Amino acid sequence: MATVGDNRSNMFFWPRPELPMVERGEGIHIWDSEGRRYIDASSGPQTTALGHGNQRVAEAVAAQMAKISYAFPSHFLSEPSERLAAELAAQAPFDLDRIFFCSGGSEAVEACIKLARQHAIAAGEGRRYKIVSRMPSYHGTTLGALSLTGDPAGFGPFAPMLVNQPKIPAPFCRYRPRGESEEEAALRFAGMLEAEIVEQGAETVLAFIMEPIGGAATGALTAPEAYYTRVREICDAHGVLLILDEVMSGAGRTGRFLAAEHWGVRPDLVALAKGLAAGYFPFGACLTSTRLLDVVEGGGGFNHGHTYSASPLACAVGRAVLAEHLERDLYGNAARMGALLKSRLQALAADFPFIGEVKGEGLLLGFDVVADARTGTPLPPELNANLAIVEAARKRGLIIYSRRMFAGVRGDQFLVSPPLIVTEAEIEEIVGLLREALEEFRPVTEAAIG
Ligand SMILES: Cc1ncc(COP(=O)(O)O)c(C=O)c1O
Repeated sequence: MATVGDNRSNMFFWPRPELPMVERGEGIHIWDSEGRRYIDASSGPQTTALGHGNQRVAEAVAAQMAKISYAFPSHFLSEPSERLAAELAAQAPFDLDRIFFCSGGSEAVEACIKLARQHAIAAGEGRRYKIVSRMPSYHGTTLGALSLTGDPAGFGPFAPMLVNQPKIPAPFCRYRPRGESEEEAALRFAGMLEAEIVEQGAETVLAFIMEPIGGAATGALTAPEAYYTRVREICDAHGVLLILDEVMSGAGRTGRFLAAEHWGVRPDLVALAKGLAAGYFPFGACLTSTRLLDVVEGGGGFNHGHTYSASPLACAVGRAVLAEHLERDLYGNAARMGALLKSRLQALAADFPFIGEVKGEGLLLGFDVVADARTGTPLPPELNANLAIVEAARKRGLIIYSRRMFAGVRGDQFLVSPPLIVTEAEIEEIVGLLREALEEFRPVTEAAIG
């Protein structure tokens, strides 16, 4: 039976039983059950955009629960979902004016995939079913989304159960051959999409999915504008839909409602989650246009849904989160604080030779840790930089986020992504603690690579 000491039953299964027990949160801080305070400088997995303990959201939940918490979406529409859809459509750029609500990022990606496929069939292009994605990338862990995720480590035992979807390299333009400009590198990487579409047979390719700003797999990787422009042109030329996975980058985290707005790249479908309900409720969305949806509806309508699709409670939370974002100008704060944080991370990169590229926009920022900052040669994997630096930070009460790429074999990526409410003083505190953690790691790299 269960052991209950320290509030641990050992009945809940999760791979990390040694983790501290969370007690409460306020603003950008979290306390554990032993009274230790942590700065949530990653917003969990880039989720808690409003920080912790937001009163308006708590009141919205209580008010909605007092009315009704759940109604089956096949039996009833609800005011919160109708209103939230209109409010989000007012924020969304381009022609994105139609929204399907679900319960998280993987579900949002699945909804995009299924809508794209039903669009192709309704448009008389039923041979299109392949979805090109990037390596490395992250699109979730349900089997459909995992098929698109560019991370062989995640495939593991599930490989034979996945649909084998084509992958092209993610555009690490910084680490390019001598003599090539960054723009030329961007076009070279975009060209790989076209080559892959042609290789697969364009008439069989349904969509290309990418994170416009990478997440954990690429440490907030972006590319020069030429990449985004060319990707859109290639998709148009071959009748391929462009799906932007903005599960992490959307809902204002980068200073705009969608990260796509930084480069003016128009998606056909967008997956959103994380910041949309800011961790106050499981929530996600698939955003598209009336133009695309009309075709699907002409073919019989969107054949998809879950028990919790468009939950009135989730949508009430989404409305309160959006109202906070807008009234407190938190997208603006993300842009301003993000610029400050990026300049501080660049200063760290100047002081620590093992920091490679500082990447990202707004408060979705990252860096990689390398042996050679010109070529991007990774550190020896046995140094476990991804774990060591996160642990050195955690000891100091600072939570950052890391991932090792390429099947966990090489490439240590870090994300620094505090809640959108972060202040200047809090940024300085985060950077001070991060500097201490990097100092602790410095002798390890010096011993290994000189
Ligand atoms: C870009 C991206 N897509 C999809 C997902 C999957 O979201 P979820 O974990 O909510 O299923 C994530 C989660 O980190 C993500 O970062």
